[in-house]
Amino acid sequence: MVKIRDIELGEFPLLLAPMEDVSDPPFRALCKKHGADLMYTEFISSEGLIRDAAKSVQKMDIYEYERPVGIQIFGYDIESMREATRIIEKTNPDIIDINFGCPVKKVTCKGAGAGMLQDIPKLIRMTDAIVKETNLPVTVKTRLGWDNESKFVVSTSEKLQDVGVEAISIHGRTRVQLYKGDADWTLIGEVKNNPRMRIPIFGNGDIDTPEKAVEYKNRYGVDGIMIGRASIGYPWIFKEVKHYMATGEHLPSPGVKERVEAAIQHLEMSVKWKGETLGIAEMKRHYTNYFKGIAHFKEYRMKLVTSFDLKEIKEILDFVSENENQFEFV
Ligand SMILES: Cc1cc2nc3c(=O)[nH]c(=O)nc-3n(C[C@H](O)[C@H](O)[C@H](O)COP(=O)(O)O)c2cc1C
Repeated sequence: MVKIRDIELGEFPLLLAPMEDVSDPPFRALCKKHGADLMYTEFISSEGLIRDAAKSVQKMDIYEYERPVGIQIFGYDIESMREATRIIEKTNPDIIDINFGCPVKKVTCKGAGAGMLQDIPKLIRMTDAIVKETNLPVTVKTRLGWDNESKFVVSTSEKLQDVGVEAISIHGRTRVQLYKGDADWTLIGEVKNNPRMRIPIFGNGDIDTPEKAVEYKNRYGVDGIMIGRASIGYPWIFKEVKHYMATGEHLPSPGVKERVEAAIQHLEMSVKWKGETLGIAEMKRHYTNYFKGIAHFKEYRMKLVTSFDLKEIKEILDFVSENENQFEFV
């Protein structure tokens, strides 16, 4: 049984990766339904929280049914991160996660996210301060290092454990790689197999099929796998991986009707949670995957991704659902 303190996560947990504008409550509801064992919010700026910025505050919304859930923060200033930790603690998440992996320039240029990988002593001081500030378990999400010459994740993980971090998720790329090339899990395996490490180590990067999940689980010995992009518009990935791990067989993938139902539920929750304009806009990146592999779907997909009229979008989705027999998978 993999545990983060007293949070039981099952034998081999599958985690939903924190993803800005993706891993929000509407999407998390679907991932939970389809088997995600631990989920994280989108990253939240510590500076935003302190300023009480509406967007940052809203990202802390969590619901009972989605537990266990972690709130992820990022920042460059240790004092601000401590203050943000106190604010987050009041919303009662199960876990606080620190982002030391975001490669986006506007984040790293100030030294936050993956920017912290250029100053490991500060990264450790910041983590130490956060662990001391809260009674909640603290986890970290990070990358292999800043660049090819500074892949310090093995030693950094030891230091993180020493200051009290209770699990680490590692994306097998450097900051400089961004999302290019293949994720390299070799060092993730080294962290996991380091005899000094006692806390759960979750591997992350490029897992997009049940076969790959099993292969990487066996090859690198990680305690669980975190899935990001493959879940976008395809929350079924979690239960498909689980089923394959348990039986060696594939679950049938969802049919057209089930996909449309999920997309409608997702859209409705998004609009309710974010308002119509943003709710509709942020759904667009999901449609491609929701309807991937359906023959002659281009015309409908185009309408879904270009329309900002809720009524029209729902009409298209209803039409597809009512005429499901007309659509076939290639
Ligand atoms: C749209 C998008 C937003 C992301 N936002 C975050 C974030 O807020 N916090 C974070 O730690 N990582 C973020 N990531 C990185 C993912 O959590 C994950 O590490 C990365 O996508 C690699 O995993 P994957 O290959 O399974 O997608 C984001 C990735 C994507 C594609």
